[in-house]
Parts: sequence; structure tokens; C-alpha cells
Amino acid sequence: MDIVIAGGHGQIALRLARLLSARGDVVRSLVRNPDHAADIRDVGAGPVVCDLERATPEEVTGHVSGADAVVFAAGAGPGSGVARKDTVDRGASVLLADAAERAGVRRFLQISAMGAGRPPRPGTDEVWAAYVRAKGEAEDDLRARDLDWVILRPGRLTDDPGTGRVRLAAGELGRGDITRDDTAAVLAELLSNPRVNRTTLELLNGDTPVGDAVAALA
Ligand SMILES: NC(=O)c1ccc[n+]([C@@H]2O[C@H](COP(=O)([O-])OP(=O)(O)OC[C@H]3O[C@@H](n4cnc5c(N)ncnc54)[C@H](OP(=O)(O)O)[C@@H]3O)[C@@H](O)[C@H]2O)c1
Repeated sequence: MDIVIAGGHGQIALRLARLLSARGDVVRSLVRNPDHAADIRDVGAGPVVCDLERATPEEVTGHVSGADAVVFAAGAGPGSGVARKDTVDRGASVLLADAAERAGVRRFLQISAMGAGRPPRPGTDEVWAAYVRAKGEAEDDLRARDLDWVILRPGRLTDDPGTGRVRLAAGELGRGDITRDDTAAVLAELLSNPRVNRTTLELLNGDTPVGDAVAALA
């Protein structure tokens, strides 16, 4: 497969690129910082410099053209404020989905977050409220499209080593942790299993081998 990962220098994105290139897929990683190109090559992928807060729809369409699937793995990150939750967590996903539609790339995986779209409780920190609002709006945008989409909501991400075992469900799982390693493994498995389609999944550490967890949803 030929796969585009947006936010290609992200921690999940790098793990995913390494898994995909090791199994023989071609990976194009969109990064905003040209200095990250060497890290992308180190995981076996091809860097494409593209800042998703500045690129035009035409440019992004060109970057995804000919791919079998795109993965939205970007995020404004913990140090960012309200404005960038909107421009990255919502806006960049919408831009990528527009580009996928224009280029005829049907398969679209979106990394979202638990609590996306739920009204924040009174007194919630304004940046967190903006984050869950942005993720919810990005999800709603994707659900309305004629694409073969999957929304994946990981729990709290950790850098513990992956176990290859998870809890994955089309429904709410409650709070918990999930390793970035296993999140990347689930994304790789979803890319090879197109029968899991048009669904919103939640993901936590668990006991079910990744392949079985994805196959059970097909
Ligand atoms: N932390 C958690 O517990 C948690 C839980 C659930 C879901 N999530 C979500 O999971 C996703 C991936 O997580 P992660 O840990 O892999 O995130 P990460 O390491 O912060 O990666 C996000 C990537 O997005 C890139 N990015 C930011 N703005 C961009 C732009 N304008 N154009 C292109 N790329 C841009 C960043 O680029 P730079 O490297 O240049 O900064 C970074 O490489 C995020 O959307 C996050 O919100 C996080």
C-alpha cells in the first residue's frame, strides 16, 4: 500500500511509519519542519514538507494523490493554546479530508481523542474545552463525508513498550491508558482491514491481540 501520514513527525506517526515500511508499504510523511526529514527517512518513510496550517487545498491534494489511504496523526500538542486546537486538531483534519476527496483517496483514518465533541463540564480549562471541541468538529466533518473513514480515539497515551494486546470497541470504554506502540499497531491493522469502515472506535490497553481485536469489528 501507499500511505500518507499527516503530522508525520508525531510520536504515533513515527511508530506507524516504521511498522508500515517494515511490512513493505510505501509511506509519505507530511512534516512541517524540514529538519525532521532525516528522522522520517530513519523509519523508512519519505518526507514531504507540508505545514497543514499554511498549505492550500491544491498543495495537499497533490501530496495525497495516488495514495491508498491517509492517516491524520497531527495535533497541536500539549503546549498549544485555543487557537491552534482549531487550526490543527480541527482545521488540518478538514483540509486533509478535503484533499483526500479531491484526490479520490477513499480510506481515511483519523486519530481523535476520548471525550471528543462532548460538552465540557462547567469550569473546564479553556484549552481542554477547545481541544475536545476541535476533535469533535473534526470527527463530525469526517462522518459527513463519502469516504471510507475510521475514527480512532485512544485513551491516555503512554510511551510504555507495546504489548500487542488491546481493548478496542465501537463504543465508549471509559478512562484508561494505551501505549503509543499499540496505537500504531492498531492503525496498521486497520489499514490492512478495509472491512472495518465508517465507525468510531475507542482504544485502551487490554488482553486481545491487535489482529483479533480488529478482525472482531470487521
Ligand atoms: N496525549 C494523549 O494522551 C492523547 C490522547 C488521545 C489522543 N491524542 C491525540 O493523538 C494524536 C497523536 O498523538 P501523538 O502523541 O503522536 O502527538 P504528537 O507527538 O504531538 O504529534 C503531533 C504531530 O502533529 C504535528 N503538527 C502540528 N502542527 C502541524 C501542522 N501545522 N502541520 C503539520 N503537522 C503539524 C506536529 O509537528 P511538530 O513535530 O513539528 O511539532 C507533531 O509531529 C494527537 O492528535 C493527539 O491530540 C493524544
